[in-house]
Amino acid sequence: MLDSSEVTVTADGRRIGGVLMDIRNITLRFGGVVAIRDTSFDIREGEIRAIIGPNGAGKSSMLNVISGFYHPQEGEIWFRGEKRPPMKPYQVARQGIARTFQNIALFEGMSVLDNIMTGRLTHMKTGLAAQAIWWGRAEAEEVANREVVERVIDFLEIQHIRKTPVGRLPYGLKKRVELARALAAEPKLLLLDEPMAGMNVEEKEDMSRFILDVNDEFGTTIALIEHDMGVVMDLSDRVVVMDYGKKIGDGTPDEVRNNQDVIDAYLGVAHD
Ligand SMILES: Nc1ncnc2c1ncn2[C@@H]1O[C@H](COP(=O)(O)OP(=O)(O)O)[C@@H](O)[C@H]1O
Ligand SMILES: [Mg+2]
Repeated sequence: MLDSSEVTVTADGRRIGGVLMDIRNITLRFGGVVAIRDTSFDIREGEIRAIIGPNGAGKSSMLNVISGFYHPQEGEIWFRGEKRPPMKPYQVARQGIARTFQNIALFEGMSVLDNIMTGRLTHMKTGLAAQAIWWGRAEAEEVANREVVERVIDFLEIQHIRKTPVGRLPYGLKKRVELARALAAEPKLLLLDEPMAGMNVEEKEDMSRFILDVNDEFGTTIALIEHDMGVVMDLSDRVVVMDYGKKIGDGTPDEVRNNQDVIDAYLGVAHD
C-alpha cells in the first residue's frame, strides 16, 4: 500500500502526492453481465493515470462509476480521504471531478463558447430567483465565469473557432472543445475516456501536449482511457490494466509492459 503522506518526484520533476481517490473492490453488474469485478486501484494527487485493456474490459464502466453515472453493487470510493456516499453525476461534478465521453457529448447547434460555458454550471450558485433579486451578485458571477472560460479558450488555442457551431467542426477539434468544457469546471480530477480515439497522428500529438500541459500548469490529476500504447507510455505515470472486468496489472508503464498477464491479454494481441 502507498503511504498517503508520500510525495514522489518524477524524472521530469513533477510532484506526485498522496492518494486522491481510492477505488476499493468495485463490482458492477448489468443483469447477468459483470462489467467490473472486485477491482481496486488508487489515483494519486497530480499524477496521470492510464486505464488500458481490450474492448469490453470495463474501462468506461469504471469512469462511469467514478463520475456517478453508474452505481456499483459492491465496493467503495474514497475521495480526499472520505468515503463517498452514492452520488448523482452533478454531485460528483461539484466535488471537483469533470469528464469527457468516449462518444463526444456536446451541443452541436451551439457555439464553441456556449458549449464551454456549460462547463461552468456546477459553479453557478445563483439560481433564477436569486438572479432576479441579487442581480449584482449574479452579474459578478457571470464575469468570473467568463474569465475562466476565456483562459481555457486561450490555453487550448481555440480562439479562432469560439463562435463556430460545434456541429461544423472536424472531429479532432470537437474532442478539444469537449476537453475545454471539462476544464472550464476547474476540476481537481479530470477523467478522459479515449481522448485520442479516431484522431490522426498530428491531432494525437496536439492532444497529448494539451493533456501534459493541463497536468503541468494546473496540477490537475488525470485519469484517462487510451488504446494507443505509445501515447500511454509517454503520458502516464502509472497504468491500470483491465480485462473481462478485472484488474490484471497495475504499475509504471515499464512494469506493465513487462507483465506477462498483460502481454497475454492485451499487449501481445492486435487491437486498436
Ligand atoms: N449501460 C450498460 N448496460 C448494459 N451493459 C453494459 C452497460 N455499459 C457497459 N455494459 C457492458 O459492460 C461491459 C464493459 O463495457 P465497457 O465498460 O464499455 O468496456 P470498455 O470501455 O473497456 O470497452 C461490456 O460487456 C458492456 O457491454
Ligand atoms: Mg470504453
